[in-house]
Amino acid sequence: MLKIAVLISGGGTNLQSIIDSIDCGYLNCSIEAVVADRDNIYGIERAKKKNIKTYILDRKLYKNNLSNKICELLEGKVDLIVLAGWLSILQGDIIKKFKNSIINIHPSLIPSFCGNGMYGIKVHEKAIEYGVKVSGCTVHFVDEGTDTGAIILQKTVSVSHMDTAEILQKKVLKEEHNALPEAIKLISENKIKVENRKVIILN
Ligand code: GRF
Repeated sequence: MLKIAVLISGGGTNLQSIIDSIDCGYLNCSIEAVVADRDNIYGIERAKKKNIKTYILDRKLYKNNLSNKICELLEGKVDLIVLAGWLSILQGDIIKKFKNSIINIHPSLIPSFCGNGMYGIKVHEKAIEYGVKVSGCTVHFVDEGTDTGAIILQKTVSVSHMDTAEILQKKVLKEEHNALPEAIKLISENKIKVENRKVIILN
């Protein structure tokens, strides 16, 4: 069974989608740990309700040591690290030690509206401002860059000229809750093959 850790920085709706996917039997994996980079976020409550081990590693305390601390905590204990609404940057040894074993969900169709400083409602504000007709979310592997790893899957939503950033955020979040469990399922069933920037999904 695939052992995962989920890293969170907020409300944890993506974490909840993973929990629900396990409970209904769609996902055959176990959440060994939930790691938060700040306290008093609802995502921690979601984990505690399911008796999932939670670690709060305050980013303001750990600063540049945060990534190494997470690596120390998880190395040898989990097969996959899932960034689910995670706002701190992972860097250093953890990226090498967990090569093609860290995934992130981003609320746009990468390479649009991503990179440093592009998170949360800001992503959708830029998309609305640009006048896109299609947006969506991307699940990708995490590499040394920000939102630059190989793309595993993307889900799209249509954008109306009347949509606000908040409306678009809601539409995209709904698709995120499908995309992240689907990507984890593919990995748990060894259906993902990575060839440089290309991710091949095996039938
Ligand atoms: C969502 O907008 C998601 O796109 C991004 O983080 C935000 C919060 O996610 N990855 P969650 O509700 O904390 O899972």
